[in-house]
Amino acid sequence: MSFHDLADQLMSRSDELAAFSEMDGGITRRYGTPPLKSAMELAAKWMREAGLETEFDAFGNLIGTYAAEEGSAESRPFVIGGHLDSVRDAGRYDGTLGVLSGIATIQHLHNEGKRLPFPVQLIAFADEEGLRYSTLLASRVWAGLPLDDRLEQPDEDGIPLVDAIRAFGGDSDALQHRETPEILGFLETHIEQGPILEQEDLPVGVVSSIVGSERAWITIRGMAGHAGTLPMTMRKDALAAAAEAVLAVEAVGRETEGLVATVGELYVRPGASNVVPGEVRLACEVRHASEETCVQALAEIRTRIQETCERRGTTLVWEPTAGYRGTAMDEGLRARLRDAIAAEGYRPLELTSGAGHDAINIARIAPVSMLFVRCKDGISHNPAESITAADAEAAIRVMVRFLDSLVSS
Ligand code: HGY
Ligand code: MN
Ligand code: MN
Repeated sequence: MSFHDLADQLMSRSDELAAFSEMDGGITRRYGTPPLKSAMELAAKWMREAGLETEFDAFGNLIGTYAAEEGSAESRPFVIGGHLDSVRDAGRYDGTLGVLSGIATIQHLHNEGKRLPFPVQLIAFADEEGLRYSTLLASRVWAGLPLDDRLEQPDEDGIPLVDAIRAFGGDSDALQHRETPEILGFLETHIEQGPILEQEDLPVGVVSSIVGSERAWITIRGMAGHAGTLPMTMRKDALAAAAEAVLAVEAVGRETEGLVATVGELYVRPGASNVVPGEVRLACEVRHASEETCVQALAEIRTRIQETCERRGTTLVWEPTAGYRGTAMDEGLRARLRDAIAAEGYRPLELTSGAGHDAINIARIAPVSMLFVRCKDGISHNPAESITAADAEAAIRVMVRFLDSLVSS
């Protein structure tokens, strides 16, 4: 198979995976759900066809292993990763590109009858987005990082993670005794989810670092009342207060250089058209290259919402949740990616990632790297997410060169 054919296969496989969804007319694949299991099983089949041995770990991550050459003394694998879970109403390349480009890269080696002096592992993580539980959860489990109280954490239907693991075919008891895997390094190929590569007219780019994030759940409590009889002057309308809170988040984001600030979830209770809302719960997150700026921005947001609540007679409950630190990619692996890109005839551009990725967790146990692929208009977390087969081909070519460069290290 030519690189062109491998890229075409990747594009059609992206479409096949897109069919596995919890929703009609779009892509939603949360951790522990049957559509994710089906997507994982299909990816496992493709991995086996590319010469990998496949297994599922105790959390339900799919792990493919391409054995090293005969007589190799190196048992530590180089790991290529991606994720098959999604956000709600997602695009079809976020996460899946890492898995499918990894399969295509190993397929190329396999077709050439080539083995490397070290094993290559390909991991399809089962929960990166955290739509059901918490973000970057699967790589946290895989990397042997602390789970704290996450196993008991309920989803929106009250199902604790430990039950979802079992229902997904995992072994929650085994998760109590996780080892930290010893690996040579990690690479994820991911859509850029931003406009830079398109502006620079480049198919691929090297990630230099991933910005950090701080998050909080905000609950605003007022008083539910009859929409027809409660005079405006007597209301403690939790949703009107929350509307000011959302604008406060946006204002702090606009006022702070380099910061992004978002309220992505908002739940109104009791949620009836003829009831003045009594309680609103909002998810707030901020991101910035500097951890201190994230912390300060979240504190400023909290101050402004507290002021709104005092003025409106509502109360504020502020619950910080799991954010993550800004993470630098490994210098040596970045240089190898730059050389591989240059060898393919492209200008090697480095760029930061505003999106979080599993490399954040894996960087705590091994050198990590990311290769970005141009996506149309920088759109992501949106069904309009799209890449071209030509850019997918460029990424696969770069990944093959990158792995080759590790051999001559
Ligand atoms: O939220 C993120 O940045 C990633 O898509 N999980
Ligand atoms: Mn994402
Ligand atoms: Mn992703």
